[in-house]
Amino acid sequence: MISRVRAALSRQLSHPSGTGGKVIARLMNSGNRDLNEQAIARLDAQRGTRVLDLGFGGGLTFAPLWERGATVVGIDRAGDMVAAARARHADEVAAGRLELHEGDVARLPLADGAVDRILTVNTVYFWPDLAAALGELHRVLAPNGRVVLAIRDMKVMQQVDHTVFMLRSPDELATALQTAGFTDAAVETPPGGKTHLIIATR
Ligand SMILES: C[S@@+](CC[C@H](N)C(=O)[O-])C[C@H]1O[C@@H](n2cnc3c(N)ncnc32)[C@H](O)[C@@H]1O
Repeated sequence: MISRVRAALSRQLSHPSGTGGKVIARLMNSGNRDLNEQAIARLDAQRGTRVLDLGFGGGLTFAPLWERGATVVGIDRAGDMVAAARARHADEVAAGRLELHEGDVARLPLADGAVDRILTVNTVYFWPDLAAALGELHRVLAPNGRVVLAIRDMKVMQQVDHTVFMLRSPDELATALQTAGFTDAAVETPPGGKTHLIIATR
């Protein structure tokens, strides 16, 4: 029974949909706030910066990025998350502060060099082909742009269904970023050791 609940929750976290997806989006927006704030703080987004939030879920990063004057490109493979964001943020979409796409990291619906910064929080666990995914991030990021991957430490992820979540160490992700062509990949671990930011430059 517990393993069935764990599997269902893990599947919703990987691809929120339906009524359960709405509940999960609310839970993510409270439980993931700190990690998203940590990632935004290291993005160096300024007025006019075009930021891709890949796998935006409940859209936690949008308002803080707008407060910095950035415009946001949100991509998520979950159609229900894209539809909810479109409805909730219709004014920002109309004003050109938010562009939304349903899409997968394996093939991003963006031109080469389309964005200045990329953040992706609690998402890399769901990328079976990590090299291909990071290659896509490299393609859509402008030269000198920064990417921030944010993850939870493996030790706080033991309750998830490991057939859904592919847990990777921060060092593995830093090495994979370098292999994908990024430079200066570095791991930052905020106090407490429960989360990591992996930061690199295009
Ligand atoms: C655990 S949620 C995290 C949401 C948000 N970033 C946060 O921190 O609250 C993972 C999100 O990434 C999306 N996602 C997972 N794999 C993806 C992929 N391969 N391409 C695009 N989006 C993906 C899911 O649909 C989901 O909305």
